[in-house]
Amino acid sequence: MTDLSTRAHTLFVDHFNGLPAATASAPGRVNLIGDHTDYAEGFVLPAALALGCVGAIAHGDGARHEFIAADRRPVSYPVGGNAESLTGDERWARYVVGVIHEWHAHHQRPLDRGYRVAVASDVPLGAGLSSSAALEVAIATALDGLHGCVTAPVERALLCQRAEHRYAGVPCGIMDQLIACTGRADHAMLIDCRSLVVDPVRLPMADDAELVLVDTGVRHRNDDGAYAARREACRRAAMILGVVALRDADAAMVDSPALCDDAGARAAALHVVGENSRVLSFADAMRAGDVVSAGGLMNESHDSLSRIYRVSCPEADALVQRLQCEAGVLGARMTGAGFGGWVVALVRPDVAARMVEGGAMRLRAADGARVC
Ligand code: GLA
Repeated sequence: MTDLSTRAHTLFVDHFNGLPAATASAPGRVNLIGDHTDYAEGFVLPAALALGCVGAIAHGDGARHEFIAADRRPVSYPVGGNAESLTGDERWARYVVGVIHEWHAHHQRPLDRGYRVAVASDVPLGAGLSSSAALEVAIATALDGLHGCVTAPVERALLCQRAEHRYAGVPCGIMDQLIACTGRADHAMLIDCRSLVVDPVRLPMADDAELVLVDTGVRHRNDDGAYAARREACRRAAMILGVVALRDADAAMVDSPALCDDAGARAAALHVVGENSRVLSFADAMRAGDVVSAGGLMNESHDSLSRIYRVSCPEADALVQRLQCEAGVLGARMTGAGFGGWVVALVRPDVAARMVEGGAMRLRAADGARVC
């Protein structure tokens, strides 16, 4: 058992005075390139982190769910309740309730009994490392374990995404849930967010270059409207250009006069079209061992997210700019939804060692969710 599984197990036993029937883990993620493209049916290239979330679960004996997480007050919630009543300190429980409902709907099983759930996580919250998807996928995987089912990874990711849309009010794309289900040690995963086909891309050898994460210290939420506004701008742009999704637009279309009256839609088109092609070039560069080109594409990606799509923040911009100027740094960019959180850099090994001494985190790409 890992430390985190032990923590979830102990929390369960101490709080509920009994043993969990199933325990499962799911990782957080760092996205190497391809942000704000998944909801436009484009391409992304995330890697699963060694940080994650563990859910320990058993049936309860009544008409209420009971949830406990380290450092949080216990939540008791009626089985047929309205998740909107979960606010403030209890808001995190919406993700758990949402996954329970969506899992039962997917498997067409009546939900007539409460669950007991204990959760332990070491993914920093609001840091762009996908703590929410790690929680959702850990719970969905634990439910599989408890009921002796195997939900296929793509189906599991989709039901978790529905839970986030319907219960947490965040219109997220599919990247975070899918990488949490399909991550592979030592690899990033090239995801086609239309076909949902996932293709492993090996990370560079440690004596060539390393991926390192640095915290800006700024925290964000995805339910404050800024994320939803970007998604809406992509929808408008696709409509104006007459395509199903911005995935179908090309560089020539971005210059279309039809976009002139909608600056948000134009920015969305410009960002998504450029970013999709950068993801594919980045994957090619990684496969060819060309870390210098890969780093350059990360820099271009940050510039587009910050200057065109406006999802960065001054602290992330300053950190990325400082890193980009350092010798031995091949590329640096924000990662995830943006507005703060961590940044990711591709650096030479001597620089990685120095950065880690200063508090940065070396990327060790991990496997996806599993029953513990
Ligand atoms: C959040 C969402 C993802 C994705 C990223 C930005 O993490 O959950 O679906 O849109 O932002 O790339």
